[in-house]
Amino acid sequence: MAISIPDTAFVIACYRANHEAMSCDPFAKLWVKPGLQAWVDEFAAEVSQYDEILHCMRNRYFHKTLNEVLEHDSKLLCINLGAGFSMYPYNLSESMVTIEADFEDVIQFKKNAIANFEAKGLLPARNVIRIECDITRKEDQLRLKSMLDSYKNYKKVIMIEGVFFFLNKDEIVSIIDFCRDILDTGDVLLAESFEDHTKKTEVWNRLKNYFEKELHSSGNATTLPFSFYKNLPGFHLKRKNSTLELAKELRLVPEKLEELEVLNEYCYFLVRE
Ligand SMILES: C[S@@+](CC[C@H](N)C(=O)[O-])C[C@H]1O[C@@H](n2cnc3c(N)ncnc32)[C@H](O)[C@@H]1O
Repeated sequence: MAISIPDTAFVIACYRANHEAMSCDPFAKLWVKPGLQAWVDEFAAEVSQYDEILHCMRNRYFHKTLNEVLEHDSKLLCINLGAGFSMYPYNLSESMVTIEADFEDVIQFKKNAIANFEAKGLLPARNVIRIECDITRKEDQLRLKSMLDSYKNYKKVIMIEGVFFFLNKDEIVSIIDFCRDILDTGDVLLAESFEDHTKKTEVWNRLKNYFEKELHSSGNATTLPFSFYKNLPGFHLKRKNSTLELAKELRLVPEKLEELEVLNEYCYFLVRE
């Protein structure tokens, strides 16, 4: 069954739709289309049966964290880099303004689909600006930066979720440099990635094989060590959570499930110094 990288955004929306209460995303179902469940089932059988629920924990983490920041600063600008089919703005306070950045084809598709959902009255009105860009390119980063002049008195949160996996280390560093440049003291960077030790597991090998087979990718996904975030110049690491830990807290996976048996993702809450 051939699948492309943008299709991964559909598959994870399907995960969220299958567990609305856990993922905190009642609008994910708008993206579900025939055939997706077959990919979900195939991935569960060939790679990991726990990926679906752990991914929902990721969405839940970002949703709850944005909500927590909103409780302190209602004038919030959320900049979602590599937004895919995320629906955070529609599930959070209307006081939040969102900029979503992604490749042209994803943004065009999403813009049309959202306009269609809105016309049918399926979504609440929210202030979302969508920008077509390659977030690793300097010119595109500058274009994004120029949009921020209108939001000078807003607290900013940049979120980068499900993206570093697909980029190389230089591209990641360039994006972090960009974040450092546009964030002011007290602003927040929420980032997510796999840690290096995951690459030594059987489940990672299965993921690599699956991607080589289905995405025709090299399978050379990027992982980052904890020290990368802990020592990030210009940022203070406020906390780190893993999707496995969150699933265990909610008793959604067996208590004794070991980290090396799952694709455990780490979410980092960083504050600009
Ligand atoms: C796996 S999806 C994750 C989507 C969303 N953040 C989520 O977690 O549900 C990865 C997204 O990152 C986008 N992306 C990857 N590399 C990018 C780049 N260089 N510039 C812009 N978007 C990128 C892809 O198009 C895709 O929408």
